[in-house]
Amino acid sequence: MEHLPPDFVWGVATAAYQIEGAVDTDGRSPSIWDTFGRIPGAIANGDTGDVACDHYHRWPEDLRLIRELGVDAYRFSVAWPRVIPTGTGPVNPAGLAFYDRLVDELLAAGIRPFVTLYHWDLPQVLQDKGGWPARDTAQAFADYAAVVAGALGDRVTDWCTINEPLCVAWIGHLEGRMAPGFTDLRQAVDASHHVLLGHGLATEAVRASASAPASVGIVLNLSPVDPATDSEADAAAAARADGHTNRWWLDPLYGRGYPQDMVELYGTEPPVLDGDLETIAAPTDYLGVNYYFRGVVADDPEGPVPHARQLDVLPGARYTAMDWEIYPAGLDRILTRVWEDYRPPRLYVTEQGSAWPDVVDADGGIEDKDRIDFLEQHLEAIDAAVAAGVPLAGYFVWSLLDNLEWAYGYEKRFGLVHVDYATQKRTMKASGRRYAEILRDHRAEHE
Ligand code: IFM
Repeated sequence: MEHLPPDFVWGVATAAYQIEGAVDTDGRSPSIWDTFGRIPGAIANGDTGDVACDHYHRWPEDLRLIRELGVDAYRFSVAWPRVIPTGTGPVNPAGLAFYDRLVDELLAAGIRPFVTLYHWDLPQVLQDKGGWPARDTAQAFADYAAVVAGALGDRVTDWCTINEPLCVAWIGHLEGRMAPGFTDLRQAVDASHHVLLGHGLATEAVRASASAPASVGIVLNLSPVDPATDSEADAAAAARADGHTNRWWLDPLYGRGYPQDMVELYGTEPPVLDGDLETIAAPTDYLGVNYYFRGVVADDPEGPVPHARQLDVLPGARYTAMDWEIYPAGLDRILTRVWEDYRPPRLYVTEQGSAWPDVVDADGGIEDKDRIDFLEQHLEAIDAAVAAGVPLAGYFVWSLLDNLEWAYGYEKRFGLVHVDYATQKRTMKASGRRYAEILRDHRAEHE
């Protein structure tokens, strides 16, 4: 990793609903994930976020683990239903106080907080009023962002508006595999526009409300997409899948409006009003990229939009416990492509990690060699991207802790730290120790 700069930011990431638990504590109202989790079969094994890692009560211990890793930064999300339980209107001081304390203690420990404002836990009351397909949700989000930035923005300098709009719009409203569980293309396209609009409005709101200088960006989950064969049909399918996964978000964020080929494919225009595209494309300070796998797709005319079928098994490929292909070169490729095509002022890899069927040894340790190999290979990929000129400023491992992997429940473990959900005991995995060592080595090289 000789090309990473001395001030490169090393971090770990989590999200509120995946770790906090305490879903009805201190005035928090239900989110769409609390509702979704009650639908039989929506989350594997009937799991819910009710307790999760009980981070709401155990955060001092989790902070000690973050310190043990020696990271520079901790990326976490704020739960909107804790801060404004009614979605709009009165602020819940107890909910805000949780994050206020966390920020203070992080800073006291020399760890930079990267605050994500929306990681999928929309207050259910706003879903009842139409959720993201409704335009008002974008403004409600900006108002909530102003509250959080007003409270924490004297100390927090790094802000992310929305995490992975693709999951909110496409997986939540088109595929139905995430809350709110809809399968309607029109609603999904409307949601996609209002999430992006919410990002633009919240960017302005954070800048206006934070008293310290604010670096504001959005986090996208992006994937390079390859055709399954060299046929023209598969090449066209790959272009469509790229439009669906990457260009639908990047183009409007970087001032190009929505890609016309995709508007035609969806057969429905996003509900753009005057000024929306300017709001969405307002300059940000960075782009966050979450990378997990690439697309390899075949033409699938009868399949769902974008009529491109992802190949599940590739000859010679290896897969994680999520059945995601291990493809480190994809990280280098996507970073380089985004930099060349869109020129964000700087980038972070805001999430990267892997789930494995971890085994707890007789002595209580977890020797997760697969996760270590995966981590090292992806760090080589970011080094290559930086060597090629990508202004990459930091890298965050997903995740600090094993946690609720959304519809997959607790079975899929992404943590550098193992969580025994029966006892809430935390154990640093070998991968956590290796990550700490990599960071120490990187710093030592630049002393
Ligand atoms: O757990 C998720 C996270 O919430 C968002 N990005 C992908 C991770 C792994 O699936």
